[in-house]
Amino acid sequence: MSAPAKRSVTITLDGSNRSTSLPLLSGSVGPDVFDIRKLYGDLGVFTYDPGYGATASCDSKITYIDGDEGILLYRGYPIEQLAEKSNFLEVCYLLLNGELPNAAEAAEFHDGVMRHTMLHEQLRTFYNGFRRDAHPMAVMCGVVGALSAFYHDSLDIHDVESRRISAFRLVAKLPTIAAWAHKYAVGQPFVYPRNDLTYAENFLYMFHAVPAEEYKVNPILSKAMDLIMILHADHEQNASTSTVRLAGSTGANPFACIAAGIASLWGPAHGGANEAVLKMLAEIGSVDNIKEFLADVKDKDNHTKLMGFGHRVYKNYDPRAKIIQKACHDVLEELGIKGDPLLDLAMELEKIALSDPYFIERKLYPNVDFYSGIILKAMGFPTSMFTALFAVSRTVGWVSQWKEMMEDPQQRIGRPRQIYTGAPQRDYVPPARRG
Ligand code: CMC
Repeated sequence: MSAPAKRSVTITLDGSNRSTSLPLLSGSVGPDVFDIRKLYGDLGVFTYDPGYGATASCDSKITYIDGDEGILLYRGYPIEQLAEKSNFLEVCYLLLNGELPNAAEAAEFHDGVMRHTMLHEQLRTFYNGFRRDAHPMAVMCGVVGALSAFYHDSLDIHDVESRRISAFRLVAKLPTIAAWAHKYAVGQPFVYPRNDLTYAENFLYMFHAVPAEEYKVNPILSKAMDLIMILHADHEQNASTSTVRLAGSTGANPFACIAAGIASLWGPAHGGANEAVLKMLAEIGSVDNIKEFLADVKDKDNHTKLMGFGHRVYKNYDPRAKIIQKACHDVLEELGIKGDPLLDLAMELEKIALSDPYFIERKLYPNVDFYSGIILKAMGFPTSMFTALFAVSRTVGWVSQWKEMMEDPQQRIGRPRQIYTGAPQRDYVPPARRG
């Protein structure tokens, strides 16, 4: 809960003698917020904020972003330090529980998650209902939603133990679901999880291995996968997380809520941007075409966006983009990929955009998706899988936010209001009398 208000703001409705005093709440860091909950009761007016750019929808202790400074903290720890020193499962523990685990807690958590990596065998048949050319995100929405039909024993959202098991199940099963979505698309047999591997290794194994050959996980790839997962693990109240919270606020079960989050992530303005960046780079094709492409981006009638650029909160470099750009160079070098034309094109595009007044004036910088697609492509993932990988990594963030909401005594159903601009009340007109 935010600190009790020491200051307030008084609002007087013009032309009336009605006024109200609204408390000013402070978090541990970041700007203060006005608590507007009694505004309607006192003044009979609502606030208007399409896109929620100026609205705090909840209290949260999980993730903090300072968009002007380009800072991202998970439970207070800078993303740069976690990316360099931690590992994904440790970050999962941190996000879910609030503190870094000691050795015994880490081992217990690892076992707890890895024990849940298999899917109910009947879920295999569920995949057969999809067309082979279905987008992996369509399969993810369906299969994750279907988990609630298979794990009835953990659906009591008011029971702490049920919530804990659901959290384990979701974090553990998402890699299996995503890897199987790929296997189904390419017509290869599903590969069962191996709990002796790390979380990232196990995912790469299920994704790339085939029963006909021995598969050894490349340590360069598993390190990069782990890093990518850490960078995508949570990002406070973005569209998909807010979707999860809104769905969860109705009392819907966690599997349904995470399926809703996956649907929200899919859009190109959000998690779908990593796939869109690669399509954009392919369309631009060569450094010579950048100028023409950027002219289209700046043309208001064209509706072309520079994908992987801009962010609602970051008005400075997205710190995740910096880390992933470096990782991109390292991975390509370690994999012996010299002078990747896509990376060269992306870097030139970034350089030109960052010196262009259009992007400077609007404070548009590269976000995490600008480089993530290039590294994922180099790691052997098909473009259509990029957003599904984002969903795998973000699941722990969604679950942490859902769990925090369920533990919040102030939790109420999410229910925004509107300015109604439609017809006022009128009488039904029979068909014969309609013009
Ligand atoms: N290319 C060109 N112009 C842009 C872009 C862009 N990528 N992003 C914003 N603008 C312009 C926008 O047209 C507006 O211009 P004007 O003031 O002249 O109307 C101005 O910059 C402010 O943008 P906005 O639309 O108010 O920004 P927003 O906060 O509503 O949107 C965004 C944020 C991320 C949806 C948007 O920047 C965008 O669509 N970016 C491309 C998609 C993308 O990379 N998304 C990934 C986001 S990070 C990972 C994640 O969250 O999943």
